[in-house]
Amino acid sequence: MSAELIDGKKVAERIREDLKKEVDELKSRGINPGLAVVLVGENPASKKYVASKEKTCGEIGINSFGYKLPDTTTQKELLDLIDKLNADPKINGILVQLPLPKGLNEKEVMDRISPAKDVDGFGPDALGKLVLDEPGFIPCTPHGAMKMLEAYNINPAGKHAVVVGRSVIVGKPLALLLLRKNATVTICHSKTPNLKEECLKADILCVAVGRAKMITGDMVKQGAAVIDIGINVTPEGKIVGDVDFDAAKERAGYITPVPGGAGPMTIAMLMYNTVLAARMQAGMKVEI
Ligand code: GUN
Repeated sequence: MSAELIDGKKVAERIREDLKKEVDELKSRGINPGLAVVLVGENPASKKYVASKEKTCGEIGINSFGYKLPDTTTQKELLDLIDKLNADPKINGILVQLPLPKGLNEKEVMDRISPAKDVDGFGPDALGKLVLDEPGFIPCTPHGAMKMLEAYNINPAGKHAVVVGRSVIVGKPLALLLLRKNATVTICHSKTPNLKEECLKADILCVAVGRAKMITGDMVKQGAAVIDIGINVTPEGKIVGDVDFDAAKERAGYITPVPGGAGPMTIAMLMYNTVLAARMQAGMKVEI
C-alpha cells in the first residue's frame, strides 16, 4: 500500500485564496491589514523565511513592513523597535524571526510584543489561552498541521495521536490542539524510553524534532496519518523532514511531504493570524 499524499502546498493555496478575498473585503471598509517582519542578523535560513513571508503578504494584499537590523543590534534597540510597532496603528501583527543572534534575549523580546499583535502566538497570553481553550492566536505551525488533517477529513476524535517533540512553539501546542479535537494524546521526547512502541500506537503521528529520518518505516502503524514537521538539510543540500518518507509511505494511510507539507501551511496560518489581528483591532467580530 502507498499512502495518500497530504498536499500542504495545495491546502495553503486555498487558505491564501480565501484570505485574499477577506482582505479585499476589509480594504473596501477601510481596514488595511499590516504585518511587521523583523529580521536581526544574517542567518541564511531566516532570510529565506522572511522573504517568503513578505512575498506572501504581497500576494494576499497584506501590507508588510520589513525591518532588517544588523547583528550588532542591542537588546534595548530591539525592545525600542517593538515598543514603536506596538503603538503603530498601521501594524496589526508583529513577527520577530527566530533565532535571534547570540547575546539577544529572545524571551524578553517575544514577551514585549503586545498580546493583541502576537501573530506568531509564541507569547504567554496566546499560549495561556490555548491551554485554557479560550479564543486567541494559535501558533502557526501546529495550526497548519491541524488544518491539513481537516482538509483530508482526518478527524482526531477518538483516535490515538502521538506527538514526537515537546517544543513550546510546535510540540506542546499541537498536543493541546489535538486534545481539543478529542484525540487521546501522547507526547514523546528525547527521554522517552520506548519511542518505537509509542509511535506504533499512533493513528495520527506528528513529528517535530529536527532530525532527519528519526522516524523509520517500522515505527509507523499501518494506515496512520503522518504529519512531518521537521525541516532538515542533508549533507547533499537536500531538504528532508524527520520521517523516512519513502519507507513510511508504504505503511501510512496519509503522509505529508517535506518540502510541500507543513512549511507552506505555517506561512498561510501566519497570514490568517494577521487578518484575524486586523479584524480584532478594528473591533469586528471574529470566530476562532
Ligand atoms: N523561526 C522558525 N520558524 C519561525 C516561526 O514560525 N516564527 C518565528 N518568529 N521565527 C521562526
